[in-house]
Amino acid sequence: MRGGAQPAPGDIAAYLRAQEHKSLLRFITCGSVDDGKSTLIGRLLYESKLIFDDQLAALAQDSRRVGTRGGELDFALLVDGLAAEREQGITIDVAYRYFSTDKRKFIVADTPGHEQYTRNMVTGASTADLAVILIDARKGVLTQTRRHSFLVRLLGIPRVVLAVNKMDLVDYARATFERILADYREFAARIGLTDIAAIPLSAVYGDNVLEHGGNMPWYTGPTLLEHLEHVPVPDELPGRPFRMPVQWVNRPNSSFRGFCGQVASGRVRPGERVRVLPSGRESELARIVTADGELPEAVAGQSVTLLLAAEIDVSRGDVIAAGDAPPQVASQFEATLVWLHEEPLLQGRAYLMKAGPRTVSATVMPIKYRINVNTLEHAAAERLELNDIGVCELELDQPIAFEPYAESRALGAFILIDRVSNATVGAGLIHFALRRAQNVHWQALDVDKKTRARQKRQKACVLWLTGLSGAGKSTIANRVEKRLSAEGHHTYLLDGDNVRHGLNKDLGFTAQDRVENIRRVAEVAKLMVDAGLIVLVSFISPFRAERRMARALFEPGEFFEVFVDTPLAEAERRDAKGLYRKARRGELKNFTGIDSPYETPENPEIRIDTTSVSPEEAAERIVSELGAAGITRPA
Ligand code: ADX
Repeated sequence: MRGGAQPAPGDIAAYLRAQEHKSLLRFITCGSVDDGKSTLIGRLLYESKLIFDDQLAALAQDSRRVGTRGGELDFALLVDGLAAEREQGITIDVAYRYFSTDKRKFIVADTPGHEQYTRNMVTGASTADLAVILIDARKGVLTQTRRHSFLVRLLGIPRVVLAVNKMDLVDYARATFERILADYREFAARIGLTDIAAIPLSAVYGDNVLEHGGNMPWYTGPTLLEHLEHVPVPDELPGRPFRMPVQWVNRPNSSFRGFCGQVASGRVRPGERVRVLPSGRESELARIVTADGELPEAVAGQSVTLLLAAEIDVSRGDVIAAGDAPPQVASQFEATLVWLHEEPLLQGRAYLMKAGPRTVSATVMPIKYRINVNTLEHAAAERLELNDIGVCELELDQPIAFEPYAESRALGAFILIDRVSNATVGAGLIHFALRRAQNVHWQALDVDKKTRARQKRQKACVLWLTGLSGAGKSTIANRVEKRLSAEGHHTYLLDGDNVRHGLNKDLGFTAQDRVENIRRVAEVAKLMVDAGLIVLVSFISPFRAERRMARALFEPGEFFEVFVDTPLAEAERRDAKGLYRKARRGELKNFTGIDSPYETPENPEIRIDTTSVSPEEAAERIVSELGAAGITRPA
């Protein structure tokens, strides 16, 4: 171990006590893979003497084996912890490093610099007080520098250190440093970043990292570590009212019901009135319990269990807040979205939105604009691609308690998750609630779905036929409707080709348009089910996400997914409309099964194999299933 800054085992308690009184600075580092970020952090850790002997031995060994510095210690290896990363020579996940000096404790989130890893930066940045933005002195300010700076500003990180690295490779030239700084300041001013310290560095040789070294006598400012040790640590925004999102409800027996979570802002004491959101119910706070006993007060940052005096309903994801200053509750927002996935964001698609411990369903509609991070111009956009930043309107399926991100990182940030793959696909910051739905209320009507269906001596439902073009959906749907009608039932058949002549004639066949096509027809089917009808929907509906969205609009037992299963080769052989031939000749783009995907249903209520069942037999089977389910023969 170098330097002996680690305590002997017996001194640990004293050591920890000393640590407690130091302030803590959380920072992130952003830069490209080759900017020398890992080397810089490695050097900070090494020089601040916080590497253990065994780690040092492993480092020396690794440097000989895979290092890029010809057998010398390669500091990047310290940071690039994962084996896979080492082999590829890149950093691929957020790594949090803890280190301390005599003056201060630090937590650094090392966020990888690959363009596709913006996600990790957003993750690492959400609690940071400062961002170190690395620049390669040979390259200057790049698109990525601008994107990172924009995100830093967006995420509300107040301070930036512009670390101009690799000064050794530009002969330590002051003019180069100053040109880069002028460039950067010009951009930073436009996005409103004002607190910028610029430091010329050589991470490899250590210039201006901990000590100045003799290579840049023209630079008289602090070294990077000096700066990090002395920069003021911002306090939690003062005067914020009390809020605690409920992580889980602790109910070990019927006499104890505690609500556990981390206090996001403010403070609270037993005896004060609190309000639970979104329900709006109020109670007095009875007790504050922790693992170490009861507390007279809970403050921001503490993890506690709250007990309320009144028996009111509180669930995971609710927010317990100061009774006289509760956060807002809404289900429609304007928000900034950073897209994090190779599959683009589609307007109209329902994603899962996770805002703190709460998960709801969210649909983006519409994307208002995309932001060009170089020019900061706003451009119209139908989709957001990987790393795009845009401003959108979001609609949730239920209201949540929130605050604008600018006021609360805890209650204003969220992520979007793909419902099918479960991947995190976007990160967002709430601007404000939209008022458009506020004065629109659901009107209760006296004649309801049940009444309407009973008059028709049936139960309302939707038969959702999905399958490739030419699979036989319309043929089968037509026969089913004929039979039902002959039996005196009240039906309607919504056919893709027909609806595209009217309601949906503005839509084409891009993924985006198909999502909207299905959203509209699902809503129409819902109205028709409300009218008491047996509704047949015959649409390719190629995506699982939208079929799932359609299903979610209906009550249990109302939605029958019918997979008209015809293999592509067979549909193409039949080619009733000659469209497959056109698609193969390249005259028809985005054709399902050819150059646009069809996602096979996983659990359809009914599957029809058209290679072994005739349309007549298929209709017979569907009608008898409706009978068995009590649709056509209601009890
Ligand atoms: S969906 O994918 O959005 O559900 P929909 O069922 O409305 O499709 O329309 C499909 C019908 O449009 C097909 O049966 C076919 O007649 C016609 N069509 C025209 N172009 C395409 C295309 N590129 N892909 C699929 N169907 C197409």
